[in-house]
Amino acid sequence: MSERREPVGVIGVGWVGLVTAAGFAELGHPVIARDILPDKVAALSRGELQMHEPGLAEMVRRNAERITFTTEMAELLEGARLLFVCVDTPPTYSGDADLSRVRAVIDELPADGDQVLIMKSTVPAGTGESIRRDLPRLSYVSCPEFLKEGTAVADFMNPDRVVIGANPGDEEAAAAVAGLYAPLGAETLQTDVASAEMIKLASNAFLATKISFINEIANVCEEVGADVGEVARGMGLDERIGASFLRAGIGYGGSCFPKDVSALKMLAGNTGYHFQLLTSVIEVNELQKRRVVGKLQAHLGSLIDKRVALLGLAFKPDTDDMREASSLVLAARLQGEGAEVVAYDPVANARAAELLDSVELAESALEALEGADAAVLVTEWGEFAELDWAAAAARMARPLVVDGRNFLDPGKLRAAGFAYEGIGKKQEIGAPS
Ligand code: UGA
Repeated sequence: MSERREPVGVIGVGWVGLVTAAGFAELGHPVIARDILPDKVAALSRGELQMHEPGLAEMVRRNAERITFTTEMAELLEGARLLFVCVDTPPTYSGDADLSRVRAVIDELPADGDQVLIMKSTVPAGTGESIRRDLPRLSYVSCPEFLKEGTAVADFMNPDRVVIGANPGDEEAAAAVAGLYAPLGAETLQTDVASAEMIKLASNAFLATKISFINEIANVCEEVGADVGEVARGMGLDERIGASFLRAGIGYGGSCFPKDVSALKMLAGNTGYHFQLLTSVIEVNELQKRRVVGKLQAHLGSLIDKRVALLGLAFKPDTDDMREASSLVLAARLQGEGAEVVAYDPVANARAAELLDSVELAESALEALEGADAAVLVTEWGEFAELDWAAAAARMARPLVVDGRNFLDPGKLRAAGFAYEGIGKKQEIGAPS
């Protein structure tokens, strides 16, 4: 007879919660996943997902018999003792993390229960301690999330590391969480709660810093005639630096880096420490999202009534997530300069329609490029590399591509008759303003 695995509870079935629920079901655990939105719960119960994440729908459907979706906290509390909190913590107007959803969950928990609260939501260091004070009977474990959108299923199954933070008195709970992750065979770091919370924030802030750093190097490369791709390759060969997260482009976006960099800066600020470096990381990123505008002007002069086609809208490929996407800033800046903006994304068009009401959305890349004065590659979807660029040139008013992710093959584009500009490469015309 097979051993019955410990049931797992998941509170908040957004992107992190759903991957967590499906992942533990895949490892053989019965899972009860609770969300306050009835429509979402009903759709998930039918095996329908409201987001694009490769492999996730299949994993949910494959494990449908092990996962119960519910809106009822009571059902969750009855069925599971190990409760992963996966509600979102978006930024407030002040740049701090909004903990209202975490607090709403805490308010629903019985003060005298024996549950283990496992915090996956990204929270400021110090949050765990204060929750623990409010709910002394519960055990509390910080278990930050390191999944990347677009590769979340693979990341769940093969994590670089599992971080488990628990304070004295919660050793048993920490061991139970370590036991859940043990089949994955990942390196596991057991530490205190505040350190686990800081590991998450510091990791995202460091990765964002790497991106802003290489983007500034890219901007200098343009001035001195160097190629940032070569520079990053040469830097990355130094194992102390490492090759990853050195892709220059039009800035980072998504639901995590912008929010977590700001939350860490504010967390420091609230204690009286000015985290100067992160202020620059944020500013560099904001300016980088606009770099393309100057490049277009260097080729086209005034952008008034110029038709600019954005290829890709999602903040990165393999997701339909539009949160803090560079495309949002770019579209608004281009419209501010008087350009007519048309766009196409293989999966994010529907979400984009809610956010970009004055941008025309096309059904294909070639349709977007029809009559355009310039194409801007915003998101590096594979299909853009495969596009018939000769056919694209024939449809466009002017064959100009600004590659915001250094993703396309400049030789191929030039052979198809295009003027090509990347980020951090020698400029073809003038210098961007
Ligand atoms: C990020 C972290 O990578 C995950 O480890 C973390 O779990 C997650 O945030 C989170 O906190 O939940 P994610 O936002 O899904 O994951 O996406 P990334 O792949 O990290 O990319 C973030 C942004 O940086 C994208 O806009 C991407 O285009 C940009 N980027 C990334 C660059 O501009 N250059 C690079 O070299 C790498």
